[in-house]
Amino acid sequence: MRFHSPGVAHFTTDHIIGLSPQMLDLKETLLKIAPRNSNVLITGESGTGKELFARALHAASLRRAGPFVKINCAAIPDTLVESELFGYEEGAFTGCRKGGQPGKLELAHQGTVFLDEVAELSWPMQAKLLRFLQEREIQKLGSRRSIYVDVRVVAATNVNLEQMVKYKKFREDLFYRLNVINLHIPPLRERKEDIPLLVEAFIQKFNLSFKARVSGVAPEVMNAFMQYSWPGNVRELENCLERAFNLIDDNKVIQLHHLPAHLYSFSGEKQPLRDTGLPGQVAQAFRQGKTLVEILEQVEKYIILQALVESKGNRARAARLLGISRPGLYKKLVKYNLM
Ligand SMILES: Nc1ncnc2c1ncn2[C@@H]1O[C@H](COP(=O)(O)OP(=O)(O)O)[C@@H](O)[C@H]1O
Ligand SMILES: [Mg+2]
Repeated sequence: MRFHSPGVAHFTTDHIIGLSPQMLDLKETLLKIAPRNSNVLITGESGTGKELFARALHAASLRRAGPFVKINCAAIPDTLVESELFGYEEGAFTGCRKGGQPGKLELAHQGTVFLDEVAELSWPMQAKLLRFLQEREIQKLGSRRSIYVDVRVVAATNVNLEQMVKYKKFREDLFYRLNVINLHIPPLRERKEDIPLLVEAFIQKFNLSFKARVSGVAPEVMNAFMQYSWPGNVRELENCLERAFNLIDDNKVIQLHHLPAHLYSFSGEKQPLRDTGLPGQVAQAFRQGKTLVEILEQVEKYIILQALVESKGNRARAARLLGISRPGLYKKLVKYNLM
């Protein structure tokens, strides 16, 4: 981020990597809409950079000196969403904190509130959010006093909200309120020319954090990257390179065998024997001195990734597939660095 003089928006979007026509378009739109106060809905698959864009939008706006407050609507149990958003007064319910607590909307006063995974809001909460967007006032739980709050709302979702509106799962009036401006970030497989740039940027980043001197990726690896469909988008690419940094010796080039096994099949190369199937992987894990718990974690992470791929990134559906709660899944996503 570069600021030349205070008070003037000289924010650049340079740290959003991408020179594909779609990304250039998005960056231009972002800078154009940043100074306004209209609500923005950012859509796109998981890992495409929605949060990155939301933060860039805030930093490029006139509100940049104010707070950026993120609320992950999928991570909060339904019963707590209201107090999380609106806050509560002391004594509003049993077990609540002494002195009450401000809600996230109030904390975002004069800044930006980022409603991540907005499709996960329950129907009643959608109504409450709509009322807030219309009146710009909040009432804490257990309070009759209204407080004026000045926030810009940026919402994000990886599901098709219009479909949800059609099936009466998302309020149409709220959809239109949020979707004043839409930024749609295309999946990585639709802008493959950005892959080499991203690889370069992540290698620089991990060279710093790992104190390594990895010079690049082998041509076969780039080939595999260009052919793979990246269901987890930029996040998956970033994780894939981080994994390679953990396996590689210093100042070397990343080779095919540093990639997760499922990427090989896209390279046109034969899979090395040691990476075929579960027995081979377990044998390899033993050779690396991994314990049962570590191997189970590896398998769990793989299963979670598969559920996310299967559900096209819809976490509620992935949680149902796995038979666990949404907050339970969320914890695991944090644990395995899949957020
Ligand atoms: N265009 C990009 N340039 C650089 N990093 C990116 C880009 N898009 C995504 N990332 C990185 O990928 C990861 C996932 O991005 P994020 O904004 O959390 O995605 P989403 O919110 O859509 O799931 C983050 O570490 C982010 O910094
Ligand atoms: Mg996100």
